[in-house]
Amino acid sequence: MPDLRPRPLPEVTILGHPAGQPVAARLPELDHLAYGGDYSPEQWPDEIWDRDYEAFDAARITTVTVGVFTWALTQPDEDVLDFSMLDKIVQRAADEGRSICLGTGTGALPPWMARKYPDITRVDFEGRRHRYGQRHNACWSSPDYRRLAAQIALRLAERYGSHPAVVAWHVGNEYGGRCYCELCAAEFRRWLKARYETLDELNEAWNTVFWSHRFTDWDEIEPPSALTEHWGGPGKTAFQGITLDFHRFSTDNALRQFRDEKGAIREHSELPVTTNFMGFFQPLDYHRWSADLDFASWDNYPRRYDEPWATALAHDLMRGLKDGAPFWLMEQTPSVTASRDVNPVRRPGIVRLWSWQAVAHGADSVLYFQMRASRGACEMTHGAVLDHSGRLDTRTFREVAGLGKEVETVGGILLGARTPTRCALVVDWDSWWAVEMADGPNRHLRYLSTITDWARPFWEAGAQLDVVPVTADLSAYDVVAAPLLHLVKGDTAARLRTVAERGGTVITGCLSGRADEDDRRFLADAPGPLAGLAGVRVAETDAAEPGVMNPVVFDGEGGASPAAGEMVFEVLVPDGAEVLARYGADFYAGEPAITRRAVAVDGGREGHVWYVGTQLDATGLSRIVTDALERHDLVGPYADVPGLEFATRIAASGQTVDFLLHHGPRDATIRLHASGTDLLTGRDLSAGDVIVLHPADVIVLRRTRPAPR
Ligand code: GLA
Ligand code: ZN
Repeated sequence: MPDLRPRPLPEVTILGHPAGQPVAARLPELDHLAYGGDYSPEQWPDEIWDRDYEAFDAARITTVTVGVFTWALTQPDEDVLDFSMLDKIVQRAADEGRSICLGTGTGALPPWMARKYPDITRVDFEGRRHRYGQRHNACWSSPDYRRLAAQIALRLAERYGSHPAVVAWHVGNEYGGRCYCELCAAEFRRWLKARYETLDELNEAWNTVFWSHRFTDWDEIEPPSALTEHWGGPGKTAFQGITLDFHRFSTDNALRQFRDEKGAIREHSELPVTTNFMGFFQPLDYHRWSADLDFASWDNYPRRYDEPWATALAHDLMRGLKDGAPFWLMEQTPSVTASRDVNPVRRPGIVRLWSWQAVAHGADSVLYFQMRASRGACEMTHGAVLDHSGRLDTRTFREVAGLGKEVETVGGILLGARTPTRCALVVDWDSWWAVEMADGPNRHLRYLSTITDWARPFWEAGAQLDVVPVTADLSAYDVVAAPLLHLVKGDTAARLRTVAERGGTVITGCLSGRADEDDRRFLADAPGPLAGLAGVRVAETDAAEPGVMNPVVFDGEGGASPAAGEMVFEVLVPDGAEVLARYGADFYAGEPAITRRAVAVDGGREGHVWYVGTQLDATGLSRIVTDALERHDLVGPYADVPGLEFATRIAASGQTVDFLLHHGPRDATIRLHASGTDLLTGRDLSAGDVIVLHPADVIVLRRTRPAPR
């Protein structure tokens, strides 16, 4: 009988942002880019496994992620552990020479667990206690879940932690959601006590004097749900402070779960531990996880073909979690997704293009969900390297195998390569939550689409971006964009100031600097702590329905400017800044819309601080960003080629590798910017060569080192 005595679990800790915490990454030890993906052989008989591995050989699959959904097999009852299937899966993969990323499997519960411990299933936003079903649905406050999850992680680590084929741990799966049960309410109160210590502090932070909310006992505090502060839905709270803290708490509660499992793994295994993130996933503040991940990894399922900069930005976010270290692309579909209303296939060449895009932005792996398609249940139509027929002559398989060959050819040269950047985009989950959870001024405003719009001109110019938290060290950047920096916390304003005082460029804009870390308004003109830096104040803020545009006319152009603003229109009053553009319509026509303050720097140079008072369109944003990039000589070589993405990584050997990724719909003729070898074809190319890039073409150019002098 296995020993299943409960193990002591770590105490709750309250985490802040990772300022000052070590975030150095530790990646799986491999000598090549990992190529493969999620594989669930427990779903098929042995003869299929034989065929699968033959196919994997043909596609040069090096790595499989297993055990992500096997908890009901490994622990069919609380007192029964059965590793026979997982042993077989792990051994077979090892015998076939594959590396293994091993799941702890705690993202999907076995049915007995929910029945035996009803507190494990969550209570939803509407207050309904869920019954058994679905996945990703355990309450992170349930002592039973926490105990059982840590135990299985411990047992897995004990059994497989020193297996030579296992290279990494994959905890849970796609952490997400929130729980509103009594246990979570109690944990929330505990978290609040640790944060505020006294109710006076809490009442002050939440401004509870409004609507007679003064709390006199911690037990009066409720999680903000449809039954309490959110009558109007998840995006409408009566008390921003409560909701903001609950989102932070929920992030920390999920993180605690990850820590529990990681701690259990560490009892027996020193291998790197990750969990698969989801890019810009609003419910969890991934920046709060940075220090706890050994390496970052994520699942890339872009919705659109025509916004490659949005995917690039998500990769940059992942790379930013570990201070620029590479991450793993843990999942992507090799053909289709299943969960959307309409699920088109990836067009020919797109999986390859998007895979190299991931590598270009710092991925040290190219992994799929999934290696073979499920026979039944909701993902049976989800794309897979092998479909139900197992054929090797499908377009998908041929493309996967073709890419496998390329990945093999590139080998280990890019492992650990860094991304040289001089530009940063500041992302702040607190601001994201704050601008989308409350009334006024415009409910249609979306944080993610705003930062994506701002990232686009950097992408178009071929200027790589680091995505950083507000706590980041900004001293390495020439251009720092901080859109919708709604909450200004700690010393953020001071650190932005030093960018300008070094001669750098800071770009911020509407609805920034409005509130403090508790989402209480600054008792000052907007943009609050940024006002002095930007040399501007906001006199009033107008709003309009999406699609209602107000021309933004750059000075000196006599109304010829095609730029326009949308949704939010701040009427600006310069106070030290120069007016660069004005509104073209409405009662504030002619009033300032965009300003720029010049900051004098020693040696006659100057720093710049832009303030953009509206949700500016692509034309306007491109104009501002291009001005900033040109000033710092950061415009890439193909800025004038539509759809052509340019990115660079510097390999551990010091070699520079450039990526040219053609996302555009038409052929592009370019003049090559540097000499080197295309790692995908072995072709030697020279600077100045005229090359035609077809849609979805990729060049991975290892630059020739300049001859030693
Ligand atoms: C996520 C999950 C996988 C699978 C895929 C389908 O990324 O982690 O288990 O559901 O989506 O796209
Ligand atoms: Zn709960």
